Amino acid sequence: MDAAACLDRTLDLVTQRVGDPAPLVFARLFAEAPDLQALFCNDASGAVRGEMFLRALECLQDAAGARQFGAGLVAAEHLRHQGYGVDATQFQRFFTLVVEVFRTALGPDWTAETDQAWARALRQVAAQPGTA
Ligand code: HEM
Repeated sequence: MDAAACLDRTLDLVTQRVGDPAPLVFARLFAEAPDLQALFCNDASGAVRGEMFLRALECLQDAAGARQFGAGLVAAEHLRHQGYGVDATQFQRFFTLVVEVFRTALGPDWTAETDQAWARALRQVAAQPGTA
């Protein structure tokens, strides 16, 4: 299985196990950095958080596969997020949190191949200009 297919398989399994993983990602983010919660005060419906999660996921998927738009998207969002007061470490951490939530959801079904595919995607995203 190639890396992109491996990521797709993870997503299928995660959805089967926990449904929409976005709330778990944000719960983890706010548990480790409670001050960040205030940044989402205008997002009562959760629509912005949902969109943010999907975009971050797309960046990881693109990094693992076609590498068509992810670098540009990451750079643009990184710049925009500096305006929200989100620093580079916090921005990058979100990608890692997404993968950590998936790993927890899969438990023993998180294989070495899966781990490698996501680790590579994370490295790729971290190596993109503007994220250092
Ligand atoms: C801990 C890290 C991050 C924090 C604290 C953060 C914070 C925010 C905030 C405050 C907003 C605007 C909320 C609003 O308009 O009410 C936002 C929107 C957004 N964020 Fe993040 N962000 C983080 C990481 C990321 C990452 C890694 C991506 C990847 C692409 C991303 C993509 C987006 C997108 C696409 C939106 C706009 C969603 C929309 O308006 O529909 N964010 N983020």
